[in-house]
Amino acid sequence: MAKLTTQYICQNCGSHSPKWVGKCPQCNEWNTYQEEIVEKVKPSELRMKQKRQKKQKTSVALNQVTPTQAFRLPMIDPELTRVLGGGLVTGSVVLLGGEPGIGKSTLLLQLAHDTRLEILYVSGEESAEQIKIRATRMGIDGSKCYIFTETNVENILEEAARVKPAIVIIDSIQTLHTQSLESSPGSVTQVRESTYTLQQFSKQSNVPVFVIGHITKEGSIAGPKVLEHIVDVVLQFEGDQHYHYRVLRALKNRFGSTFEMGLYEMVGNGLRPVENPSELLISQSSEALSGSAISAAIEGLRPFMIEAQALVSTAVYGTAQRSATGYDLRRLHMLLAVLEKRGGFLFANQDVFLNIAGGIRLSDPALDLALSIGLVSSLENIPVSNKWCFAGEIGLSGEIRAVNYVDKRIQEADRLGFERIFVPKNNEKGLKGKEYRIEIVLIQNVREVFEHVFG
Ligand code: TYD
Ligand code: MG
Repeated sequence: MAKLTTQYICQNCGSHSPKWVGKCPQCNEWNTYQEEIVEKVKPSELRMKQKRQKKQKTSVALNQVTPTQAFRLPMIDPELTRVLGGGLVTGSVVLLGGEPGIGKSTLLLQLAHDTRLEILYVSGEESAEQIKIRATRMGIDGSKCYIFTETNVENILEEAARVKPAIVIIDSIQTLHTQSLESSPGSVTQVRESTYTLQQFSKQSNVPVFVIGHITKEGSIAGPKVLEHIVDVVLQFEGDQHYHYRVLRALKNRFGSTFEMGLYEMVGNGLRPVENPSELLISQSSEALSGSAISAAIEGLRPFMIEAQALVSTAVYGTAQRSATGYDLRRLHMLLAVLEKRGGFLFANQDVFLNIAGGIRLSDPALDLALSIGLVSSLENIPVSNKWCFAGEIGLSGEIRAVNYVDKRIQEADRLGFERIFVPKNNEKGLKGKEYRIEIVLIQNVREVFEHVFG
């Protein structure tokens, strides 16, 4: 017989110890060990089990494996489709992580707009009435969307076998528990085991499963990192609670790239996919203001224009403040150092605030140039034309380094009617033989660009 014993398990990385420890020796996190009840299998039983399993499976030569074509379910949400790499692959498990209140439940409930697909929406957090209220607000009819308020994994799978839906949605994984374990829901073993069971179900039945997971205050998906290994796709839904924009990214994708980004706007009746980000992310003011510059950015394969704003003002207190929204603070320090050393602009006694429009966090290094222009524009109080845009990464010696997809950036700027774009000279080769209406200024270092822009 299997024996029940208790063990201490790290809620962050899943490693275990027979007694409590303050600091996890595996992941170095503090206070993550919690007592959990686990089933202990005797070594003799384990050997028997392994023997039984061995009989069932044999290895296959790779060339004998017949590939089953990964079938992608069509979805009405173009952003989600793109982030998933062209559609939802049947038999896959997709983990959707995000802070509470960011819109995870809304995003997935929205799939029920598509009346062709039967959806089983399992909710362990909200009652059917609460979901109904939200669906009504979003204008969802819901005749093909089945709500199941249950937290027991075995019951959920039974219901899924009965309903035979096209998609299963689990809201959220932290509320689930499986009968085979004694520990409480939300504990690392329960979360891992439940996900594993769902994954088995998905592989066998070919039904894709969306799993919602909460994010801890440190920003990782609550509980174990191990969860990310079990599932096929890990998506992250992020955004600032005070802004309406939401960004969907893939952190891991077995069926596509992880570069793509989906953009949504939270409106009164749900999340609206933003198909044309440029028109939203630059302010529509007709006059140019000092401190703002427009960057020709790329995220994934999609180019768009985004406004970078800087405010530089004399520091009142001893140490100058530096603050950045949507941009890496360390990178800001680096930019300020470069501007001081290579451009001769003094920021030491100035407070510096930086803001990327819409509260969106981008990883494109080509933002550097627009940000530097914004910083100097604010410092000198000289506005920059809002018909100009910038793309370039800045190196430590003040050189402007080449950016990727320069052609796409220029095309987008051209399409939106910009008059002038500043791009790195190192990208010149990539532009040979191409015709644009927009004026292209090739630049080599920060001094050169400041001479051009500020005269
Ligand atoms: P929700 O999907 O419940 O977030 P999560 O599941 O990630 O916790 O979204 C909650 C927020 O979204 C809530 O603060 C209200 C807002 N919201 C809208 O602004 N418009 C809408 O149409 C809906 C349904 C929600
Ligand atoms: Mg929710």
